[in-house]
Amino acid sequence: MYDWLKALHIISVIAWMAGTFYLPRLFVYHADAVAGSDKSETFKVMERRLLKAIMTPAMISTWVFGLWTAYEGGFFLSGWLHAKLLLVVILSGFHGLCAKWVKDFAKDQNRHTARFYRMINEVPTLLLVGIVLLVVLKPF
Ligand code: HEM
Repeated sequence: MYDWLKALHIISVIAWMAGTFYLPRLFVYHADAVAGSDKSETFKVMERRLLKAIMTPAMISTWVFGLWTAYEGGFFLSGWLHAKLLLVVILSGFHGLCAKWVKDFAKDQNRHTARFYRMINEVPTLLLVGIVLLVVLKPF
C-alpha cells in the first residue's frame, strides 16, 4: 500500500512539475505575440488546456497522495516534512499566480514582459531542488 501511494505521488509530482516548467515558457513567447493574432490565440488554447487538463489535477493529486503517504508513513511530526510543506505551499502559490496570468492573457491583458516570465521560470526549479533534497536526505 505504502509503495503504491508513493508511486502515485511521484507520478503526480512529475506531471505537475512538467507543467510548471512549460507554462512560463509559453508566457515568454506569448508576451511578444501581437494581441488578436493567430499565434496569440493558439497560445491561449495551449495555456488553458495545460493548466486545466494537466497542472491543476496533478497539483491536487500530488497533495492528496503526498498527505496520504505522510499519514501512512507516520511522518507528520518530522521536521523535514514541515520544511518540505512550506516549499510546496510556495509552489502552490506560484501555481495560483500562473492561473492568474493565464486569465490575464485570455483577456489580452498581460502586464509583464517576456524577460519577467523568463526569470520567474527559475522559481519552480529552485523549489524542486529544495523539496527533493529535503525528502531524500531528511536532514532534520
Ligand atoms: C503536497 C504535499 C506533499 C506531501 C505531503 C509530500 C509527502 C511525501 C512523503 C511522506 C513522501 C515519502 C517519503 C519517504 O518514503 O521517505 C514523499 C516522497 C516524495 N516526494 Fe513528496 N510530498 C508533497 C509534495 C511533493 C512535491 C511538490 C514534490 C516535488 C516537487 C515531491 C517530491 C517527492 C519525491 C521525489 C519523493 C520520493 C522520495 C523517496 O522515495 O526517497 N513531493 N512525499
